[in-house]
Amino acid sequence: MRLPAGTVIAVDGPAAAGKGTLARRLAAELGLPYLDTGLLYRAVGRRVLDRGIDPQDARVAEAEARALTPEDLARGDLRGSLADMAASKVAAIPAVRAALLDFQRRFGAAQGAVLDGRDIGTVVFPEAQVKLFITASVAERARRRFLELTGRGVAADPAQVEAEIRDRDAQDANRPVAPTRRAPDAFEIDTTELNADETFHAALAFIRKKLDSA
Ligand code: CDP
Repeated sequence: MRLPAGTVIAVDGPAAAGKGTLARRLAAELGLPYLDTGLLYRAVGRRVLDRGIDPQDARVAEAEARALTPEDLARGDLRGSLADMAASKVAAIPAVRAALLDFQRRFGAAQGAVLDGRDIGTVVFPEAQVKLFITASVAERARRRFLELTGRGVAADPAQVEAEIRDRDAQDANRPVAPTRRAPDAFEIDTTELNADETFHAALAFIRKKLDSA
């Protein structure tokens, strides 16, 4: 598929819905750069934790967001329950979001991109040519995250994984700034009954239709 220059594809949705898997595959298929914006918040959360400070501390979290380096995004400890919660806490702080906005916009504007997160289609790129909103039931998302964790050799308890996903969803959806929302013009794919391949093909079919009609 030939894309217009600078095409931005926004992939948003709640925790562990499969946004990353889909976004990475779309980027490879369409020859676009890919940015996992969750990593930015995870890395900020980690930097605050490194200092022994509560991730809800707005002043420290903003300073760490402004000091973020590319090496921070390559850390091996950005996933797991502590990092998940710290990311969600710093992500609710308006000054942290503001500090990360420019980087995300420059990344997407340079040559187009696929970006996944919570607010890509609503705040970061409200003019994105393609917006996808990826969901699945909480039970299915918890099942996938549990398999992902145990697959990486991390010990996990299924009930606790589900409880943490519920907490984080609530925190991300109810914050006053950039809450997780489906943009009115986003195409929603409920992946509860779909595997990664089926999700990818559903997304690709939508992108084709959308760009053909543009
Ligand atoms: O992979 P998973 O869906 O569990 O999380 P993630 O996409 O890596 O995001 C981690 C956390 O960062 C989320 O719980 C959000 O609080 C925050 N986030 C955000 O606020 N805005 C984004 N664009 C991306 C992530």
